[in-house]
Amino acid sequence: MQNNFWQQLKEAGQPILALAPMAGVSDAPFRQMCKKYGADVVYSEMASATALNYQPAKTLDLVRFDEVERPYVVQLFGANPEHFVKATKIITEQVRPDGIDINFGCPVPKVQKQGAGAILMGNPKLAREVVEAVLDNTDLPVSIKIRARMEKGEGDAKKRIDALEFLEAMQGLELAAVMIHGRSMAQGHTGKVDHVIISQARPLVQGVLLANGGIVDIVSARTLLEETKADGLGIARGAMGRPYLFEEIRNGEAAVKSKAEIFAIALEHAELADKILGKQGILELRKHLCWYVAGFPGAAELRKELVKVESFDDVKNILK
Ligand SMILES: Cc1cc2nc3c(=O)[nH]c(=O)nc-3n(C[C@H](O)[C@H](O)[C@H](O)COP(=O)(O)O)c2cc1C
Repeated sequence: MQNNFWQQLKEAGQPILALAPMAGVSDAPFRQMCKKYGADVVYSEMASATALNYQPAKTLDLVRFDEVERPYVVQLFGANPEHFVKATKIITEQVRPDGIDINFGCPVPKVQKQGAGAILMGNPKLAREVVEAVLDNTDLPVSIKIRARMEKGEGDAKKRIDALEFLEAMQGLELAAVMIHGRSMAQGHTGKVDHVIISQARPLVQGVLLANGGIVDIVSARTLLEETKADGLGIARGAMGRPYLFEEIRNGEAAVKSKAEIFAIALEHAELADKILGKQGILELRKHLCWYVAGFPGAAELRKELVKVESFDDVKNILK
């Protein structure tokens, strides 16, 4: 295995803490917050390999990043190996992230309809062609994100595959990292996370193994790590309104933050959103602001104000 950033993080001997990809959430301002508050590596929102072939400008905007985010991984989704060839070249040459990830986990109908995301686990031959298309066209480390299992259809058309069979079918490919979301495609984003299957995947992953699903605090992080023997964790919703969760997990100590401290962090996030993305950044920030204040007395009233903010000054006036 080549000496890539994944390997370097692994050799550092600490569990690797990754901000998992989240469409509509893990934009540059949020990634920078997570990085500042302890994430070792951050993933982009998923970007369409097909869109990069036909209308690259918008997608290139989506995956734009700042040096402070490194190591930064761009995640691609799609089902057409030829589209991945060009998309990989564009990302490698024009964006220069630290790694490229392929999405085999997304269950949303819009992505399923294209035969991409989790449903593509059901076609390991095509999935392998997609991975090869990426590997053959970049010098960057390539990773994949998969689900514990995928089950779809009825009768003869029924397709089912689990992470172990899928990884068997990927043997021989130089994958720098594999993140396994321990839920099935049918479960979507809720329900029990299968720790056992992630631990069973260990011998099938030569690179870094990351476990994902249900991490909301130090205990859930520790349990998932211990039970899976993974090299690290992918954290998604647990970091919403709580980018400092990474730091808490790293230090093994819950940071009890006062309302003033959390508001200061939210303001820091708002400043970044304004600086990086302007007004659009502030509009995208509205949901983040609601997550920051969730659980505080008077949160409902605050939320009514926060969902209307249009500028950094609006955010300042409410949170100060
Ligand atoms: C709003 C949202 C958007 C997501 N977008 C992506 C995505 O673009 N690519 C991907 O591989 N997974 C995506 N996921 C899945 C997460 O990366 C993660 O696998 C899932 O939320 C389980 O982790 P958690 O329990 O820590 O939230 C998304 C999840 C959420 C909630």
